Amino acid sequence: MKKIAVLTSGGDCSGMNPALRAVVRCALGRGMEVVGVRRGYTGLIEGALSPLAVKLPLEGAVGRGGTFLHSARCAAMRTPEGQRQALETLRRHEVEALVVIGGDGSLRGAQVLQGLGVAVAGIPASIDNDIALTDMSLGVDSALARIVSAVDCLKDTSSSHERCSVVEVMGRSCGYLALAAAIATGAEYALVPEAPFDLEAIAVALRRRYEEGRDNAILLVAEGAAGADAVVQALQDRVGFEVRRTVLGHVQRGGSPSPFDRILGARFAEAAVAGLVEGASGFMTALEGGRIVRRSLAEVAAAGQRPLDPQLLALAQALAI
Ligand code: F6P
Repeated sequence: MKKIAVLTSGGDCSGMNPALRAVVRCALGRGMEVVGVRRGYTGLIEGALSPLAVKLPLEGAVGRGGTFLHSARCAAMRTPEGQRQALETLRRHEVEALVVIGGDGSLRGAQVLQGLGVAVAGIPASIDNDIALTDMSLGVDSALARIVSAVDCLKDTSSSHERCSVVEVMGRSCGYLALAAAIATGAEYALVPEAPFDLEAIAVALRRRYEEGRDNAILLVAEGAAGADAVVQALQDRVGFEVRRTVLGHVQRGGSPSPFDRILGARFAEAAVAGLVEGASGFMTALEGGRIVRRSLAEVAAAGQRPLDPQLLALAQALAI
């Protein structure tokens, strides 16, 4: 194999840059040429490809958040015409294989290209941890670290002012970040889309906490479970504490990648390049019990959203006394 391309697509996450760096190094080390596609599938359709080398912008990329190739959500890639143009770009640039770093939609795009005869490897990257058949996606650990650090700060000021902080975190329809952050910060509650919750009962429990003389309470709300404003409205004037809302927003997606994500990005990248060189295609690199394995993109798509770990849910419930 002489030439491969790499792109980052969908919502960015910390860990994409270390993965890109590793794709480039592993491919160059095997004597291949590497081209970077700017702005995900949009750039692939428009032909925004250029050669990548070990030097800038990759120098120092291992510690930087975001993606130096830029990312985009590309509606055109869902159309036959967009897919045809993407294929045409790859043919024109004599690219023999493509590495796609992104979330579930991006991996579906890779699967489409595989169906059109392109050799593809996917690297699961999304802060949501919603991609099936991998224990972790790239970027989850960094986002969680960002949330935990923000909630620790909120706990300090909530305690000073005897407040209840309702903190909305990302995750689309997946509650992993809210649940894991609640466990890691000792929050009173995590509201997640995968488990029913009763705001009436929560209000009563918070009132009791207030009457016991506790000086703060923290509620983590997954964006897919409820809006922070609605939760504040349901609780305010009923729980004793003043109730305030914080929406962490895109802060969760940025910042320096955690050591775990730097290493995971490198491991996924090496496995993607090695798999393509061996002649494999249509696979996603996955973390399974600490090992890197390959899962077929078709299998991943058929599995749907990664379920919330019942053990993690049970742990949060056991801690909520
Ligand atoms: O999928 C990653 C994610 O950050 C979700 O958690 C969130 O709902 C969404 O992307 C936000 O997307 P955008 O940055 O396009 O608004």
